[in-house]
Amino acid sequence: MIQITRRETFNAAHRLYNTKWTAEKNFEVFGPCSRIHGHNWELFVTVEGEVQEETGFVIDLKELRDVMRNYVISKVDHTFLNEDVDFLKGVLPSTENFAIAIWRILQPVLLNDFGVNLYKIKLTETSNHFVEYYGK
Ligand code: NI
Repeated sequence: MIQITRRETFNAAHRLYNTKWTAEKNFEVFGPCSRIHGHNWELFVTVEGEVQEETGFVIDLKELRDVMRNYVISKVDHTFLNEDVDFLKGVLPSTENFAIAIWRILQPVLLNDFGVNLYKIKLTETSNHFVEYYGK
C-alpha cells in the first residue's frame, strides 16, 4: 500500500458561532473568531491503495483533482460557510467539523468510483494551524 496526496486551495469566510447561545456567550467562548472572517484554506486529500501495474498510479491525480473540485472546492470557494454550503447546514464550521464533513463526502466517492481508500483529510485554516482526520 502507498499513499498519495493532492492539494487544493480555496477562499471562504466563517464564524465560530453557536446559534443556541447568545452573542455575549459566543464572544466569551470564541472571542474575535465569533465575528465573520475569511481564510485562504488548503485542503490536502490523501488516498491509499496499490500501485496499478499498467499506469504506475494509485489514482490518476487529474481524477483526484476533479473529485476534490467537483465535490468540495466548487461548493465552498468564495462562500460564507455558516450559511451558503448545503453539506455544512446545521454544522458549526470549525476546522474540525469542516474536515469531518469533507471526509464524509469524499470517502464513498473515492471508494465506489475509483476503488481507493481515503486515508486522510488535512485542512489548513491558517499557516499556524490545521487539522488531520483519519475517519475515526
Ligand atoms: Ni477562522
